[in-house]
Amino acid sequence: MSLKFYLCAIVSSCVVTAFAADIDASKLPPPSTKTGVTYDNDIKPILQKSCFNCHSSKSPKPKGKLKLDSLETALKGGDNGKDIIPGDSAKSPLVAQVSHVGDPDDFMPPKKAEAKNPPLTKEQIGLIRAWIDQGAK
Ligand code: HEC
Repeated sequence: MSLKFYLCAIVSSCVVTAFAADIDASKLPPPSTKTGVTYDNDIKPILQKSCFNCHSSKSPKPKGKLKLDSLETALKGGDNGKDIIPGDSAKSPLVAQVSHVGDPDDFMPPKKAEAKNPPLTKEQIGLIRAWIDQGAK
């Protein structure tokens, strides 16, 4: 194999990785205009229906080590670090993952589990964005 081939392989894998890390905010559903959005009142019920089966502190092995069943643990994040960036929903990996933007392997809930864990609607994602933009309280 030629040196040229190796260089191309290295450069293109870097390009692919950099691309995956960048969230295309124009593809995300818009934030809700609702004010005073809180984890307890607005967000927990959404996550309970679609995420707790795999991301709960009650499970012996929460997937990706992410526990979404309390505000504190949700903000802490998981294997990939912080999944929620208070004040910046467009840069929060969790928002991209539930919006099906970026790497399909990271889409949440996983495609094959959608029957038991309904994918989020645009309205639900909008509420999650408003909550994060308002500081994730
Ligand atoms: C059927 C199980 C399942 C459901 C339901 C599910 N997830 Fe996941 N989730 C996973 C698995 C498995 C991983 C780890 C993927 C990996 O490590 O490659 C993961 C990882 C994640 C991560 C990355 C965590 C990190 O820091 O590494 C986020 C964010 C996430 N999920 C959000 C959600 C949200 C939000 C919901 C609900 C809308 C949800 N997930 C529903 C299985 C699930």
